[in-house]
Amino acid sequence: MANFKDIKGFIFDLDGVITLTSKYHGQAWHQLADELGVTWTKALADGLKGISRMDSLEMILKAGNKENDYTEEEKIRFAAKKNDNYLTLIGKMTDEDILPGIPAFLKDLAAHNYKICLASASKNSPIILEKLDLVKYFPIVVDPSKLKKGKPDPEIYVRGAELLHLKPEECIGIEDAAAGIQAINGAGETSIGIGDATELSAADIRFARTTDMTLVNIEAAMKINA
Ligand code: G6P
Ligand code: MG
Repeated sequence: MANFKDIKGFIFDLDGVITLTSKYHGQAWHQLADELGVTWTKALADGLKGISRMDSLEMILKAGNKENDYTEEEKIRFAAKKNDNYLTLIGKMTDEDILPGIPAFLKDLAAHNYKICLASASKNSPIILEKLDLVKYFPIVVDPSKLKKGKPDPEIYVRGAELLHLKPEECIGIEDAAAGIQAINGAGETSIGIGDATELSAADIRFARTTDMTLVNIEAAMKINA
């Protein structure tokens, strides 16, 4: 693992790290899966975290052995329907929906002159940053529509480091999903997983809750694991 003193930037996932939109993505996909007659399981729900919209739809269809049942146009319609549902679910979000500890952590990072950017697969992330009043912390956002491959491919985290003008080993990536941790590790950055130990076993550092993610705790974890 890198040395804490070499770290210059933090690359954030959004859904499930900064706010619980992960829950709304899950609800909207669950509804679509029900309509398509695909059994919804926890494994399917966990596997979808961090996965792009069209890749998520393909995973759901595959889980129900329906991957060859629909045309591209029908698939685009399903994905649009899911997104409409999702936008309704996030409609009332405000800055009160930021996860605890995140505002203080962002403030601390800014006070210590760390560079920050967002590496979410979501095309909705600019709207969510606005709703949460966090645009000021994230002037730099990786545009997922410009990427060739989604998480777990490292491309989004490689791009994040490039946008910050940092080397991968100078960056820490933060994720709530196994696919995201795989992407950070593949990019050669230090990975922080927020959430379940089993799901995030590949993370360099893991915190159960966002309130545990402080610079002091990160420095301590990097020393212990060094
Ligand atoms: C994030 C979420 C996924 C979601 C993906 C695409 O990575 O964790 O659940 O499918 O973004 O989101 P979008 O808002 O573009 O459909
Ligand atoms: Mg996430």
